[in-house]
Amino acid sequence: MRKTVIAGNWKMNMTPAATTEFITTLAPMVAGKDKCDIVLCVPFVDISAAVKAAEGTNIHIGAQNVHFEAKGAFTGEISAEMLTAIGCEYVIIGHSERRTYFGETDTTVNLRTKAALAAGLKVILCVGEVKEERLSGITNEVVTMQTKLDLAGISAQELQNVIIAYEPVWAIGTGLTATPEQADETCGVIRSALAGLYGEEVAENTVIQYGGSMNDKNAAELLSKVNVDGGLIGGASLKTDAFTAIVDAANA
Ligand code: PGA
Repeated sequence: MRKTVIAGNWKMNMTPAATTEFITTLAPMVAGKDKCDIVLCVPFVDISAAVKAAEGTNIHIGAQNVHFEAKGAFTGEISAEMLTAIGCEYVIIGHSERRTYFGETDTTVNLRTKAALAAGLKVILCVGEVKEERLSGITNEVVTMQTKLDLAGISAQELQNVIIAYEPVWAIGTGLTATPEQADETCGVIRSALAGLYGEEVAENTVIQYGGSMNDKNAAELLSKVNVDGGLIGGASLKTDAFTAIVDAANA
């Protein structure tokens, strides 16, 4: 039985003070809503404030990237150990904005995932096709290839700490949501790829989220789909009301 995971991706938003205020407001709104796991992935500088504000609540804190080396001359980067040392539990890896704007490739996504898992972080691994790929009818091939490359060398046991986020790039921040049927179908394709790599049972136990303009209005229908085990939410995770409504949809 897979647990639904509702994760916010704040991207480059909020100061530490705003983080404290947000989580202090959100915590009572989502208290006891334990049919889903709740995660907020915040900017690096907000993690400590987030961890402190979330102490004793059902809100878990994540980062939005991590470097693959343990330490060294990597100006501007953050290691997995630095994240766990400040109480960070999750990390998003391979988000399309990092792939598009910062040169992230399946090779670096794979390296980052391995380093994060080795340090004990839970990984939210993002895959998804761009618009041209969907229009060309190669969505299934694209997400299957990304899944295989990004998880190369990762064991079935390690996979227990991996959540896959299916995020069609054309749906991110655009207000264009995949239809529940499209989300379900492509999450199913990813599950089949996992079955090919790890066997049916492991695939059935892996959490696969949908992300891309999920909001308080469309969450219930998306989450009702059998292959959609949660959401990775950008814009709507910046508002306590909208984010709570999504958590409510996951608890219905
Ligand atoms: P969005 O972002 O909900 O604003 O579309 C989702 C994401 O990028 O994870």
